[in-house]
Amino acid sequence: MSLTLCNVQFSQQSDRVVYLSNPVLKSLNLAGKKSVHIKLGKETITATVKPLKRQGHHIYLSASVRQSIRVPKSGNVYLLQDGDNELQLGPLVGVLCDSGFRGEPTPFGSRTPFIRQLLRAGEKKAYFFAFTPRDVNWQQETINGYFLNSQGGFVRKVVPLPDVVYNRLPSRRAETTAASASFRDRFIKHKIPFFNWTFFNKSDVYKMLDKDVEALKHLPDSVSKPTPEKMKEMLEKHQFLYFKPTAGSLGIGIYRLTYHPKRGYFARFRKGSSNVLLRFSNFNSLMRMLQGRHGATLSHYVSQQGIRLIEIDGCPIDFRFHMHKDGNNNWVPAGIGAKKAGRGSVTTHVKNGGSLMTPENALSRAFGDRADEMLEKAKEVSIKLSEAIERNYPHRLGELGLDLGIDKDGEVWMFEANAKPGRSIFKHPALKEQGRASLAYILDHCLYLSRFQGGNN
Ligand SMILES: Nc1ncnc2c1ncn2[C@@H]1O[C@H](COP(=O)(O)OP(=O)(O)O)[C@@H](O)[C@H]1O
Ligand SMILES: [Mg+2]
Repeated sequence: MSLTLCNVQFSQQSDRVVYLSNPVLKSLNLAGKKSVHIKLGKETITATVKPLKRQGHHIYLSASVRQSIRVPKSGNVYLLQDGDNELQLGPLVGVLCDSGFRGEPTPFGSRTPFIRQLLRAGEKKAYFFAFTPRDVNWQQETINGYFLNSQGGFVRKVVPLPDVVYNRLPSRRAETTAASASFRDRFIKHKIPFFNWTFFNKSDVYKMLDKDVEALKHLPDSVSKPTPEKMKEMLEKHQFLYFKPTAGSLGIGIYRLTYHPKRGYFARFRKGSSNVLLRFSNFNSLMRMLQGRHGATLSHYVSQQGIRLIEIDGCPIDFRFHMHKDGNNNWVPAGIGAKKAGRGSVTTHVKNGGSLMTPENALSRAFGDRADEMLEKAKEVSIKLSEAIERNYPHRLGELGLDLGIDKDGEVWMFEANAKPGRSIFKHPALKEQGRASLAYILDHCLYLSRFQGGNN
């Protein structure tokens, strides 16, 4: 298998002809060949090969070839030779996205800037496009994708099914429908690598890692759909619990529960835009409040051992590790943000008064000259946890957002794993470069998954 970066141009001819410049013919050992299979995404045709007297790596596709395999544009792209006779252009990478509101010039709503950034990063090495579920034509096996033009605007082009799909569908609810599951399955049936599969639920992740010794030592004791008896037992054992909606995000609906044998039970949570602290003299009245607000069975909740996090100025801090799989299929912590809770807030979310810091800054304030050592340790744990999630998960993963905490003894804990992590940490001026690196990892991993990799360029 060999990989060559080529400049693709089009010619007017109506026969199926591919012109290859002499250096390309030579490097692919095609001198004397009469015809090749030429492929883009999942579409292949056979074309006559003709030599082109030019220096450099050039390939000219006749109009007929161009239309048959639906090459979206001219310019530099990779040529992958698989076996003697097959030349594949690409890779063709689709980013799956959507928005409730669809209109030009922001077809993906508030996510449009991110999609644009990603396509821009991708277009240097691949045919990168965005699409929504409605843009796929399964009968014809084509997608009406959104490509970027040179002015940064979107242009629609119909292309074959891609070599890889990066899933950024934003709606957790829409993803749970049967139609949405069968939509994802169709890509797998076409042997198209697809990542990430869906959002995670907290209880699914805890359950998935339930038997994984490596991961378990970093997971707080967690119980899904806790009975009142179980809650009581956990409060007595740990004196401190987090009570969280299993499909929640952004800190919504989270309670911090504490038990003092002499003073009773305390529940801290966010109500509207303020933080509330309630005291209950007995366990039953605490449960009545929770059941009153969330239903008698608490079936959508997880009860979790509370961790005594390191603090700055009396406010807990935790960390977002934005993990990517790289071009060699290994997990890397590509971006790390530290988050300091707002005063009196149950979580560290910026929306709830939290503030974003670099991990170096946060850790040096909490651990002094042991900061570097702690950061290295947390990075190692983040990789181990990502590997553990991956080996216990039946679908492909390429990106994860881990919410990690470090306790006062220096132990690292995972509160949740997000399969479609937000990118708010990259807004911090000191983390912008990591934001760019994150895009580069997505691209490299797509090249890896489509096997467009390991060339001599
Ligand atoms: N078991 C826990 N111990 C201490 N703090 C916790 C615990 N669980 C969550 N937190 C705090 O609450 C925040 C939000 O919890 P998380 O599980 O990430 O839920 P969400 O989906 O709402 O982001 C965490 O980032 C952390 O600051
Ligand atoms: Mg979180």
